[in-house]
Amino acid sequence: MSAPQLRVLCLSGPNLQLLGTREPEVYGPTTLDEIHASLRGAGAALGVEVTCRQSNHEGELVDWIGAARGAFEGLLLNAGALSHTSLSLFDAIKAVSLPCVEVHLSNPEAREPFRHHSMIAGACLGKVTGFGAHSYALALTGLASHLSAKTR
Ligand code: DQA
Repeated sequence: MSAPQLRVLCLSGPNLQLLGTREPEVYGPTTLDEIHASLRGAGAALGVEVTCRQSNHEGELVDWIGAARGAFEGLLLNAGALSHTSLSLFDAIKAVSLPCVEVHLSNPEAREPFRHHSMIAGACLGKVTGFGAHSYALALTGLASHLSAKTR
């Protein structure tokens, strides 16, 4: 019998709907829709079904994480600026105890000091930063290998 398809929820936070036109010198030219399409393609090649959502609202992200247990095996989270401030997102990731990879297009630690601290990193399995749009696919590869090692 073949292994069941893994399900991953990819969440993006505030202002990431503006990718493509938002500070392209920092975040690159790729839109969030394009990132989502290539992530679903990369997922298909890895045997992972990827569901992608974006919200500018902390509570909506908290709701989606809180409902993820049982529906998804793992999370990718680019929480945008909320990465640096949100204890609620830290608690939500801990509460569902699903492996979560923190994602950033830029490398926050090479930018302004207020971006150096991640509030959510301590709740995450790992982190991929600094590879532009490709950070998402790299994070998916890492998460998929973690999940398939667990189910083997
Ligand atoms: C970001 C980095 C954050 O510091 C910033 O607030 C964002 C985008 C990134 O993907 O590089 O909104 O998460």
